[in-house]
Amino acid sequence: MNGQLGIVGASGFIGRELARQAAEAGWVVHGFSRTERAASGAIAHWREWTEAPDFAGLDAIVNLAGEPVNQRWTKARQRLFRDSRIGVTERIAAGIGRLSGSGRPSVLVNASAVGIYGNRGDELLDESSAPGCGYLADLCRDWEDAADRVAELGPRVLKWRIGIVLGRDGDAFRQMLIPFRLGLGGRLGSGQQWMPWIHVEDLAASILHGIGRSGLHGAVNGSSPQPERNIDFTRKLGAALRRPALLPVPAIGLRALLGDFAGVILASQRVIPRVLLENEFHFRYPTLELALSDLLTSSSSS
Ligand SMILES: NC(=O)c1ccc[n+]([C@@H]2O[C@H](COP(=O)([O-])OP(=O)(O)OC[C@H]3O[C@@H](n4cnc5c(N)ncnc54)[C@H](OP(=O)(O)O)[C@@H]3O)[C@@H](O)[C@H]2O)c1
Repeated sequence: MNGQLGIVGASGFIGRELARQAAEAGWVVHGFSRTERAASGAIAHWREWTEAPDFAGLDAIVNLAGEPVNQRWTKARQRLFRDSRIGVTERIAAGIGRLSGSGRPSVLVNASAVGIYGNRGDELLDESSAPGCGYLADLCRDWEDAADRVAELGPRVLKWRIGIVLGRDGDAFRQMLIPFRLGLGGRLGSGQQWMPWIHVEDLAASILHGIGRSGLHGAVNGSSPQPERNIDFTRKLGAALRRPALLPVPAIGLRALLGDFAGVILASQRVIPRVLLENEFHFRYPTLELALSDLLTSSSSS
């Protein structure tokens, strides 16, 4: 399937990779942004982001908007977290609702996050697992509920529960490299927590795969088939960088440094992408070793 694809959050880390792959696959990409931008590269047209955006002519929409949560969770920021997720999804519903039934896009992929599962120890989590507890789990549940309301307007809705996305331009990976460069790499907290990671290329490719599977709807875990415990992730990253990973960071230090966000880093989510595996998605980077080898080979970070 290809045609006209709208990406909300197209200027972001994941949005840029999705736009690149979609354009390469023959989609005409329309980006939505709060900032005026000139068409360039993969994004053929930019459209204005409004209370009820203009989605005319689009076959599919992917919503990747979201104020980053890797910062201190002040009350003001918590309002931004909600508005940029639930509020944005509600505005997408308003934009789709303005169109006549036959003019509506046939599919919406709405971002969500593995944070919906909360902190679950060694439990294997697939899309049928119940949501967990805590601030992020509640936020993701409300975000997915808002996406479900779009399904009532006609489009097939996929809720993409995104894991920790690894890419050269991504905050998560960049921040992981900093302590190693300083020789200060080490496990976080006990190191026993499971990390559901995914290479950004696989994430974007899997979203396009999901758009093309007309029978697929509902929740989809966007993470690799081999999550890693933090201690193993740290060891493998240290080995790939040829830097020691000997200095553990205690949970209490993380909490002092990062506030509530430390809870996200210390939470354990052993997530399996069952829906993607059952729907014949081929991961180019199924193992962390393959992902790190790709990401560190062509970057200047080693
Ligand atoms: N990266 C990860 O590891 C990860 C993990 C789990 C979930 N996710 C989720 O995946 C989505 C994309 O992540 P990312 O890493 O690509 O984020 P990003 O680089 O921070 O980009 C987010 C985009 O959202 C748009 N945006 C922010 N607030 C908005 C608002 N109030 N209204 C409309 N647009 C808004 C921005 O577009 P403009 O400034 O151009 O308007 C920006 O380009 C987010 O929802 C994030 O929570 C990411």
